[in-house]
Amino acid sequence: MDVILKLVKNIITIDGPSGVGKGTLAFSLAERLGWNVLDSGLLYRLVGYLSFKEGLETSKEIVLFLNKSKIKPISNFNEGICEIELNEKVLGKELRNENIASRAAELAKEEEIRNSIIKIQRDAYDSKIGLIADGRDMGTIIFPEAALKVFLQASPKVRAERRANQLKEKGMSVIMHDLLEQIQQRDEEDTNRKISPLKPADDSLVIDTSNLSIKEVEERVMKNFKKL
Ligand code: DC
Repeated sequence: MDVILKLVKNIITIDGPSGVGKGTLAFSLAERLGWNVLDSGLLYRLVGYLSFKEGLETSKEIVLFLNKSKIKPISNFNEGICEIELNEKVLGKELRNENIASRAAELAKEEEIRNSIIKIQRDAYDSKIGLIADGRDMGTIIFPEAALKVFLQASPKVRAERRANQLKEKGMSVIMHDLLEQIQQRDEEDTNRKISPLKPADDSLVIDTSNLSIKEVEERVMKNFKKL
């Protein structure tokens, strides 16, 4: 028997590969609507960070550590980024580097790890406020009840160029070939894993952002949101 979900209007999910612009879109929509943002990738990055920092080697050790910790995702509207409160300490910048990202992508393949952070993600939704949830499986697994599910895509080359521009703006040096390789490697891992692979939900609005500005993407999403 098919289960019929009651669709919820004040959750918008944004899924897609790394570097496609999910985070920027999430914050501009959230500011416009007065909602919160969940950057679920940051939770997987936290898992990667903890595995290094606490020397946790197996999924079992990681899950035990997560279960005894207080973990709360936060939307920092002043800086336009999400952060995570871990046992009263706020983590943000520490989680945003390529070493942590690849460890996160590796650990994100483990079912026990994915299951252990489902509740943290679902608890980020406050029905009185509304939520933009960004990640890989927001529309398919975590918030299938969201009335509007967006899936962003763009070619690896376009995503690597965008990433290179962001890094250059921060005064960092960039090796284009390495960036492209990292993006392709993560696409491969995120798309081909057995559990919760990166894929659009059947009822999602798929947008190729390769030739669109962030404003144009935002307008497309808002047009669909207003139709709900
Ligand atoms: O969005 P991000 O690049 O910060 O995510 C880091 C990694 O976490 C990504 O390569 C795969 C994993 N991830 C996931 O498996 N499921 C999500 N909902 C979000 C991220």
